[in-house]
Amino acid sequence: FAEGPLSGKRVVVTSGPTHEPIDPVRYIANRSSGAQGTAIARALAALGAEVVFVTGPASVPPPEGVQVVKVETAREMKEAVEAALPADAAIFAAAVADWRVRSASGSKIKKVKGTLPTLEFDENPDILATVSQMETGRPALVVGFAAETDDVVAHATAKRARKGCDWILANDVRPETGIMGGAENAVVLISEQGAEDWPRMGKEAVAEKLAARVAEALRQGR
Ligand code: C5P
Repeated sequence: FAEGPLSGKRVVVTSGPTHEPIDPVRYIANRSSGAQGTAIARALAALGAEVVFVTGPASVPPPEGVQVVKVETAREMKEAVEAALPADAAIFAAAVADWRVRSASGSKIKKVKGTLPTLEFDENPDILATVSQMETGRPALVVGFAAETDDVVAHATAKRARKGCDWILANDVRPETGIMGGAENAVVLISEQGAEDWPRMGKEAVAEKLAARVAEALRQGR
């Protein structure tokens, strides 16, 4: 590991989308590239952290110098996160699918003339909320993300309370911001202290700023 302010600290990072199977050849997914989560894992490792990087099928390669755990579904991601604990901090940057297909078919669903398949859904486990609300072994610092299109601070503040995490990094993903899938991010850090606006910057810079804040929080005994 690199030497730095996070030497000796273990951090779990989730990243990327999840894929929820319909049958062996089809799945439901989302457009997360994994870029922000990957940058965060890289920045934490550069500060000396031992990083467990739990990633869904992302379109960017995982960083060097971290332990990579590849998963497909939300349920696999939750299991991998739980297996990676205990940790000093956990950062949940993954875009976890809210729903999975109920009773995914074990064989390819055939096209039958004149009939259409219907999909039913079940709710996926909320990994961020689960870890935030652990009664024993909760990481000292738990960070979630919120992608919002309106009333960013109000919605993210409510989300922080609902999930029980320490910080929420909220971003404005209205299409005109170009943030979703773009190279830049404009975030608001919601903590116990309130809302702190970060200027628009590259996703790498957001990651470096967050990693420095994580180091500072853990140093102060979080
Ligand atoms: O509820 P929402 O999906 O908006 O919350 C986003 C935050 O919660 C992100 O940090 C995401 O990684 C996390 N999350 C999770 N498990 C879920 C859904 C969201 O960890 N099933």
